[in-house]
Amino acid sequence: MINNWSLPENDPWSTPFAESLLHHLEIRKGDHILDIAAGGGIPAFYLADQVGPEGSVLAIDIHQGQVLRSRSIQGTQLPWLRFEVGDMRFLPEDLPKFDRITGNLSFMFFRPNRFEVLQSLVRFMKPGGQIVLTFPSLGTFDSLWTYVDKKMADRGLKDERNALDEYINERPSAFHAEQWLQELGMEKVKVSEHPLEILTGPGREFLNHPLLRGGFLDDIYECFKDQALANDFMNTISENISNFTPLYAIRCAMCGWLPETPGDVPC
Ligand SMILES: C[S@@+](CC[C@H](N)C(=O)[O-])C[C@H]1O[C@@H](n2cnc3c(N)ncnc32)[C@H](O)[C@@H]1O
Repeated sequence: MINNWSLPENDPWSTPFAESLLHHLEIRKGDHILDIAAGGGIPAFYLADQVGPEGSVLAIDIHQGQVLRSRSIQGTQLPWLRFEVGDMRFLPEDLPKFDRITGNLSFMFFRPNRFEVLQSLVRFMKPGGQIVLTFPSLGTFDSLWTYVDKKMADRGLKDERNALDEYINERPSAFHAEQWLQELGMEKVKVSEHPLEILTGPGREFLNHPLLRGGFLDDIYECFKDQALANDFMNTISENISNFTPLYAIRCAMCGWLPETPGDVPC
């Protein structure tokens, strides 16, 4: 039985982002919170512990496996915390309104229409409520993308370069986060960015790095139609990490408050 709901200390990715989220979040006992892209429960467990039994946390994730995993960690503890399967981009109309909406490492998945998703989420906020989302913003791993682009150019990989360019340009920025929160009529908008170094060694350690492989390197492989060529290309990249390390993610947190007076927010 787990009864310490602090953020895990040994998580080099979710925890630093969640710390940024909690830095901006104002949370009170009895708050009702919607936590989107909840995954394994960072920071849903912590939030549920903070709001206590007078409050509630609805934690949603699109992948059933994640939801089942979080439920099994939870067991019968914190019964005011519910993990449910759901797509944060298309939430059911009959959801109640929440005091807080949180989403650690969420905003990048608002694809393809990030503004529209943000707008649809705001509908589920109570007047005076707060939204805080985190994501790796534009600039994340730029040294890697620059090196990959250069190596693709050296090898004359035109289609692959175009695909990489499209991917790079599609990434969310702190600038857009701030602009969109303002456009939605949010008050006290704050967007912060902090670099986060990701440590890796060369070769297999780089290629199989749990964070890089799951979230970012796959995007490079997807730029290739020929996966044998992708493997050869990436093996060479992995042996030359001194050309793009240190490797920095940009940890971005975006936060805004819905005005108390209804009608201030454009639909
Ligand atoms: C990087 S993980 C973050 C999980 C957790 N918040 C954390 O900080 O560890 C992103 C999560 O977003 C979920 N996700 C991606 N797209 C989603 C969507 N459209 N709706 C709900 N969850 C989504 C994924 O299944 C994954 O669990």
